[in-house]
Amino acid sequence: MSHQIRPVSVRFIPSMVASLAMAGFSPAWGADAAAGKNVFKSQCALCHSAEAGDGGGAQGPPLRGVAGRRAAADPQFSYSAALKASNLTWDEATLNRFLAAPTAVVPGSTMVIPVANATEREDLVAYLRSPAVAPAVVAAPRPPGPPPPTATPPGTPEYLADAPGKVHSVRAQDLPKPFASAAARNFPRVAPAPAPADRNLKVPAGFRIEVFAENLEGPRKMLVAPNGDIFVATTQGGKVRILRPNAEGTRPQLNGYFAEGLSQPYGLALYPAGDPSWLYVAETNRVVRFPYKAGDLKASGPPEVVVAQLSPTGGGHFSRDLVFSKDGRRFYVSVGSNGNIAEDLTKKSPTEIAAWEAEHGLGAAWDKETRRAAVLVFDTANPGVGRNFANGIRNCVAMAVHPRTDDVWCTTNERDNLGDDLVPDYATRVGAGKFYGWPWYYMGDNEDPRQAGQRPDLRGKITVPDVLFTAHSAATSITFYESARGAPEAFPGEFSGDAFVALHGSWNRGFRTGHKIVRIRLKDGVPTNQYEDFLTGFIVDNNSAWARPGGVAVARDGSLLVSDDGNHFIWRISRE
Ligand code: HEC
Repeated sequence: MSHQIRPVSVRFIPSMVASLAMAGFSPAWGADAAAGKNVFKSQCALCHSAEAGDGGGAQGPPLRGVAGRRAAADPQFSYSAALKASNLTWDEATLNRFLAAPTAVVPGSTMVIPVANATEREDLVAYLRSPAVAPAVVAAPRPPGPPPPTATPPGTPEYLADAPGKVHSVRAQDLPKPFASAAARNFPRVAPAPAPADRNLKVPAGFRIEVFAENLEGPRKMLVAPNGDIFVATTQGGKVRILRPNAEGTRPQLNGYFAEGLSQPYGLALYPAGDPSWLYVAETNRVVRFPYKAGDLKASGPPEVVVAQLSPTGGGHFSRDLVFSKDGRRFYVSVGSNGNIAEDLTKKSPTEIAAWEAEHGLGAAWDKETRRAAVLVFDTANPGVGRNFANGIRNCVAMAVHPRTDDVWCTTNERDNLGDDLVPDYATRVGAGKFYGWPWYYMGDNEDPRQAGQRPDLRGKITVPDVLFTAHSAATSITFYESARGAPEAFPGEFSGDAFVALHGSWNRGFRTGHKIVRIRLKDGVPTNQYEDFLTGFIVDNNSAWARPGGVAVARDGSLLVSDDGNHFIWRISRE
């Protein structure tokens, strides 16, 4: 969009500039705060709020009043050490510079969303400096009526009962009504890791847990190569790390980068299985592959583009996972939604919807959500642009293919701001052409009140996911336990074919939940709607935890690896 075609009514006119300047604001001439608000909604609101009641997320600090204040000054938010030490003040030029390349201006910052387009950046900064986003001067009087529901009800936090073997069952028919409790803003403060003797982590009897690697800068997805080398996506740093375990499997003996300079790499897959010759990497909006042969510690050539663009829109959920079918003929890429609940979808007539769904599948959303909140599928030999495999999956952060059934599974983060126990996150088998509800419905025919009346045609067509987790757990990774016969650390046979899921930890829930590894028992590849704790002990209190488990993988020796991008460890769970 160019400046010229903008409606003049939303520009700053000189009299406004004068009065704003008196109030301490001096927007860049020509920058457009109203356009900036739209950029904010599509690229920032997932993690930030800027105005009271705008429904923005809380993975980042609230930006109300950010213009002119010191960096990292919100007392509630758990900032990175890097931003706290940055000594920046958010004047216009600094905001602009930071937004152009946040991790270049503040290396180590957990704000990883750059805005490449200079006009968009100026507009955003104008919006952040506009009166609407200025600090509140007086608290608004509370309107008459009953008090609003509280974010943290009195009672005992459920996490106190977390322990290996504890079974959880969240059932679609037992869910509370929307807004039964307030939308919490309870982002986990990452506490420093306790001294080794005080860690008190809990795994089932017969297992032990120890540090495998440390100081890793935000390790996320892990992938174990046939030769035992472990690839680790360093999403925030744009790198793929490689670790080679020592002979005992207890520590890395080699630790380096296989590839660098990537755009938020997350999903990793080797192809073909057995003796792979490529490492596929899912970046935030494309798929590339690097030449690979067993033993390589560095990519021997530049990346080759496999899928040039996953979705026409950027912003919002940024991680993409990638898995191959068992026969290697297809690969799947999960693409999370742009927004929390697609509030701004334009209206389509029933005929337009039918045409859209004929192209994109049942329940596919459009506009900024085109080819988002979906799992896409591609032919390996001829990827092209692929097609939507399943829709309505808000943020399928991770996938895994069941080694025996070939089912594609997703772990999904569901929507925010409907209350403490809505909407459950889930792990599910993903069926071809199925629709899982987002943004109009959840867990079957439960309509999201923020989309009320929009899609009566979808009633009865929504697939209920297989395994529901406590809402807001943040299910970020899934792996199926398989181990070669005779592997020294192989888990007992009853684990074979079961799933392990990493729960990264909540922010939108009054009582903290997640921050653990859970096990889903499967029988012939089919789960019940139950899961049980496997690794617990990271939650310190309702506001803080000392790990954010984000990845889970089975090492070649049969031990289970868990990555933590809170305190930057990889843990190893092995048999006692
Ligand atoms: C995926 C979540 C996410 C998205 C999307 C995101 N941010 Fe952030 N943002 C963060 C986090 C986390 C921090 C804290 C960074 C730190 O502690 O290093 C942050 C910090 C900031 C800060 C510094 C605030 C302070 O209190 O010092 C600004 C300014 C900011 N973000 C602006 C934006 C803008 C503008 C956008 C949209 C283009 C955006 N962010 C998109 C997560 C996000």
